[in-house]
Amino acid sequence: MIRATIRGIGSYVPPKVVTNDDLAKLFTTSNEWIQTRTGIEERRFADEGTLCSDLALEASRRALEDAAMSASDVDFIIFATLSPDHHFPGTGCYLQKKLGVRHIGCMDVRNQCTGFLYSMTVADALIRAGTYKNILVVGSEIHSSALDFSDRGRDVAVLFGDAAGAAVFTACETLDQGVLYTELHADGEFAKALHMDVWDISRKPYLSQESIGGKEIWPHMDGRTVFKHAVTRLVELVHHTLKKNGLRPDEIKYVIPHQANLRINQMVAEKSNIPPERFLNNIQKYGNTTAASIPLLLDENYRSGKLQRGDLILLIAFGSGFTWGSALVRW
Ligand code: UT7
Repeated sequence: MIRATIRGIGSYVPPKVVTNDDLAKLFTTSNEWIQTRTGIEERRFADEGTLCSDLALEASRRALEDAAMSASDVDFIIFATLSPDHHFPGTGCYLQKKLGVRHIGCMDVRNQCTGFLYSMTVADALIRAGTYKNILVVGSEIHSSALDFSDRGRDVAVLFGDAAGAAVFTACETLDQGVLYTELHADGEFAKALHMDVWDISRKPYLSQESIGGKEIWPHMDGRTVFKHAVTRLVELVHHTLKKNGLRPDEIKYVIPHQANLRINQMVAEKSNIPPERFLNNIQKYGNTTAASIPLLLDENYRSGKLQRGDLILLIAFGSGFTWGSALVRW
């Protein structure tokens, strides 16, 4: 039986560190408010002009190096982002050009914080079907150029940071290794609880002087609704994933949760009966990096030696859409 395994992992964050105190110089907020409510201490912002595909390129090179592969070994690219280089074409095409490979297929996935899990599920299915052998899956975001750094947008602006993460998924025939299980969900009923209007095709033109002066060009979030649903859905998801696979909570070495809010992950750990030290987090250093958060967290813990080959890990994410999903992986 063929299944997909993660043969190489890499990530990249831009060097510029932005602390909570730095943000407090731009609008009314405080280090204390941000840390207490979210756990975030700092995040990275890319320099102006740096694109989502630029961060993705660095992360991809590191993942390929870790896999001991070159870009020409890749059969297909799946690119998850909510902050593409352009409205179209997909950013996967720009990454393909930057990697110096041509003619392999590229696909963009627009599933926000769950983007990496949706992408790896597709990669796993394509590999299991025998369609491709080596798929590069990337999550990359430049949030800093699309945040409202005024009091009006402060609830959202404090949360997000720029980063990229990438993984090379490869076909393997070992039964108990790689992607063992995935499940994906969405509920469009709550699409407007976390959304951004900019390319609203019900309007002509999409952008006008009025919309630029107004609030449509910035992300909007009903934070409390997102928080409440995130905890409920993620707890359900952990229980369901474990039950479907006949696993007890103590059989999971680490949970790799999307990094939206430290308090969300702490509550999910508590309600899932999984010791909090098994829930890995790095939101303190990077904020919410949406599609990049899971590969960034995997890469950090793999390179530090905490995550070891053979560990059984559970990946979970919830975000805009609403979308949510899980994956069980034998690392
Ligand atoms: O991947 C999914 C992405 N998003 C999420 O997961 C976000 C989920 N939601 C959250 O993380 C939280 O709802 C927030 C961190 C965004 C907000 O925390 P909260 O405890 O839900 O605060 P709140 O929105 O209820 O606001 C409380 C107060 C308000 O003031 P008043 O009305 O009580 O006077 C806000 O105006 O905090 C105020 N506030 C701020 N104060 C300082 C909102 N943003 C800020 C800020 N600094 N940045």
